[in-house]
Amino acid sequence: MELNNADQKFLFKALDAFDNRILVIDPGYAIKTAIGRDPVIKDEVLTGKQCYQQFYNREKPCDKCPATKVMETGVASVRETQAGNGETGSLACLYSYPVLNEDQSIEMLVIFHFQFPELDGLELELQRSNAFLHKLLQSACDGVIVADKKGKIIIFNDAAAQVSGYSVKEALAGLNIRDIYPEDAVAYDIMAKLRSEEYGGVGKLKKYRIRIVGKNGEHIPISLYAAIIYENGREMGTIGFFHDLRERFHIQSKLEKTQHQLLQSEKMASLGTLAAGVAHQLNNPLGGIILYSKLILEEYDLPQGAQEDLQRILKDAQRGRDTVKALLEFARQSHQSMKPQDMNYIIEQILFLLENQALFQNIRIEKSLSADLPKIIGDPQQLNHVFMNLFLNAAQAMEGHGELTIGSELSNDLDRVIITVQDSGPGIAPKYLPHIFEPFFTTKDQGKGTGLGLSVVFNIVENHGGAISANSQEGQGATFVVELPVMHAPSQGAENEHQDEC
Ligand SMILES: Nc1ncnc2c1ncn2[C@@H]1O[C@H](COP(=O)(O)OP(=O)(O)OP(=O)(O)O)[C@@H](O)[C@H]1O
Ligand SMILES: [Mg+2]
Repeated sequence: MELNNADQKFLFKALDAFDNRILVIDPGYAIKTAIGRDPVIKDEVLTGKQCYQQFYNREKPCDKCPATKVMETGVASVRETQAGNGETGSLACLYSYPVLNEDQSIEMLVIFHFQFPELDGLELELQRSNAFLHKLLQSACDGVIVADKKGKIIIFNDAAAQVSGYSVKEALAGLNIRDIYPEDAVAYDIMAKLRSEEYGGVGKLKKYRIRIVGKNGEHIPISLYAAIIYENGREMGTIGFFHDLRERFHIQSKLEKTQHQLLQSEKMASLGTLAAGVAHQLNNPLGGIILYSKLILEEYDLPQGAQEDLQRILKDAQRGRDTVKALLEFARQSHQSMKPQDMNYIIEQILFLLENQALFQNIRIEKSLSADLPKIIGDPQQLNHVFMNLFLNAAQAMEGHGELTIGSELSNDLDRVIITVQDSGPGIAPKYLPHIFEPFFTTKDQGKGTGLGLSVVFNIVENHGGAISANSQEGQGATFVVELPVMHAPSQGAENEHQDEC
């Protein structure tokens, strides 16, 4: 645009009358000209000085400066700032526009500093209380979601973001309240409850437990307090405060598990005492029956029928003795020989013995043993007994055909060694699962199992400070998980301490 002298004069006059500040800088931030009624401009000669030094007393340009943005992007940029000290402060804006050369490079930048009029008291107060409310909602520990009449989310605090997995930005950009319920019916049900009298009065819903769906599809249990927002008697939207119940549920189920284990241990302890007494009583007569049956068989030439009967007596007495042996094992509480043990080694040794047994010939054994498993403190014989029983049970359940998978690993908290024994057998029926660790519980035919195997296993694991659990889906195999505490502070002293106990 061509301007004659009079036009130029007029234009400068007009610009000088401008209440705010206009700067023209080169791409090196040096001020080329400054216009406006701003006192800073009137009092000093600015040309040639760096704008960031002059106005902000800085050593280098600020990253947030719109001029810097223009230089990076080549297009106009704007930044809101707070003028004044923030207390009384009114809003100001810095606009920056590029002036381009013919080759589109930046020749200079025009910066407008535009200050909005001071807010009056009431407006400022409103702005402040809005900011305070915003901070209040953001810092609340519980999730807060406000939605308009159509369900569009208009407030979504940090806690809501943390629980749901949606970022605040994502939620405000178009998430509908119905998206966080498993199905629309739940949202309608909540609205119906909110409008009814029964759940805390019309417009209110108190301590209501439901599940919401997180961004990753997880169903999250929450406790919800909700209310309808009314304006002049008309529904304007809803507000919901909610608390994540996952941690509470987790602790509750852990508590139930511990209580169950405690009951189981008490039951075991009393049964153990009883069993030990009975076992001792039975041991001697059974020993006598076996001894004298063998003597008669060896010394007398009995008729065929009598020999067979006596063989039967001997066999039954021997089975009785095996049961008594298992009972005594079950009742034994003392630690026999507590030493540092490598569980991988123990597992390998047992498998070496079992692999040659007929029952294991058609069983594929998969091992996934962690290479750097720390040692535990334990009695090798008793630990052998534990895994021998678990492997045998698995092989028996699979009737000699299937897959046995054995894993060892260190727990995430580095405190326990976890050994998993999984088979591809028929699994355990849910009605039997709570009883398998009880003494004499067996589903095997009479004479085939004593039902003492797992109860002995349970006792041994417990005496080692560990825990055992079983889970199974009927028809999909069974998994036994044994957890044993890691040997801590593997100092000489600690090892000796345990050895002294033996
Ligand atoms: N891996 C498994 N798969 C399916 N069921 C199992 C498994 N392990 C144990 N069970 C069930 O648990 C019951 C109890 O097991 P436990 O080892 O205590 O006794 P048992 O095996 O029946 O008898 P014994 O150990 O004297 O041979 C078994 O009878 C069986 O019903
Ligand atoms: Mg068994």
